Amino acid sequence: MNKEKHFETEAIRTQTKRTQYSEHSTPLYLTSSFVFDDAEDMRASFAEEKEKNLYSRFTNPNTTEFIDKVVAMEGAESGYAFATGMAAIFSTFGALLNSGDHIVSCRSVFGSTHTLFTKYLPKWNIETSYFNVNETDKIEELILPNTKILYAESPTNPAVDVLDLELLGKIAKKHKILLIIDNCFATPYLMNPIKYGADIVVHSATKLMDGQGRVLGGVAVGKNDLIREIYLFSRNTGPAMSPFNAWVLSKSLETLSIRVEKHCDNAIKVAEFLETQAKVKKVKYPFLKSHPQYEIAKRQMRLGGNIVAFEIDGGIDSGRKFLNNLQMCSLSANLGDTRTIVTHPASTTHSKLSEDDRLEV
Ligand SMILES: Cc1ncc(COP(=O)(O)O)c(C=O)c1O
Repeated sequence: MNKEKHFETEAIRTQTKRTQYSEHSTPLYLTSSFVFDDAEDMRASFAEEKEKNLYSRFTNPNTTEFIDKVVAMEGAESGYAFATGMAAIFSTFGALLNSGDHIVSCRSVFGSTHTLFTKYLPKWNIETSYFNVNETDKIEELILPNTKILYAESPTNPAVDVLDLELLGKIAKKHKILLIIDNCFATPYLMNPIKYGADIVVHSATKLMDGQGRVLGGVAVGKNDLIREIYLFSRNTGPAMSPFNAWVLSKSLETLSIRVEKHCDNAIKVAEFLETQAKVKKVKYPFLKSHPQYEIAKRQMRLGGNIVAFEIDGGIDSGRKFLNNLQMCSLSANLGDTRTIVTHPASTTHSKLSEDDRLEV
């Protein structure tokens, strides 16, 4: 079986066990809890002597199916599904970090992730040092004896910069720290960070995994021992994905590859068109030759992704005029929807950043 076939077969044929009703497509298991045969079955199930569903905050057939698909697509060992992408990121930190630990992260990260680093994690004495996308040679200087995690997105939100995952993997291995990659923009169809040494891959499933702007979701996949910690943390703190959202998302994954192919096909045409426009100052798209990390993108991504970043001549006023004159595209703060979205990160998703950080990312 070639790799393409394998990816799509996993996406379609990974399925919960068929019930006595012989259904073809997986049913929706809307149930908070599960029943036991007798007292001993109940005790043994809670003691984890048996692999059974106990309560949907822990596991549920729909979330398990969704997780199994992402695990197969990313080449991971196991995973856990969350209500949102931010729940996946926060719970991963909550489970794996202790007070006094230190994170080294790329400065160009999603706005709420940045807020975790600057506002919430410091409450538990966890500090973060940033490196800029074009300064990966400085990462090692930032690593301290208490550094536990190297964190990055690629391509980054919002400016679609690309980080060299092979390099990050080597640095993490050399310093015996965990590499965590937010693979939301690339999806497992375009890139698999685990191949380059990532220990955990997190996703906002709200984006291309859903692909139709309907439900929120998140997932973390990776090594068994780390996911076990994340599972235990989450089973007690309660950020679990709802079975309904897992059902929607698992169906969505069946078409991930063809949707992402089409998104990429459209995005490069938009990027190439914008490059020819006199009033557009700058266009960034990973598979444009003008992208600063074009060679890296070509090496580690199957296609360039669905996001195009661009800057219009004339500053904020031109930007406003552009947004206000769009005929069909939606003004919204999401991405990876069937409906093309145009957004202005500086005044929305990244508005909480300091002026310096905003300019840098
Ligand atoms: C790269 C990235 N990570 C995480 C998130 C957070 O995901 P969610 O909105 O599902 O919590 C987003 C949301 O836009 C994102 O773009």
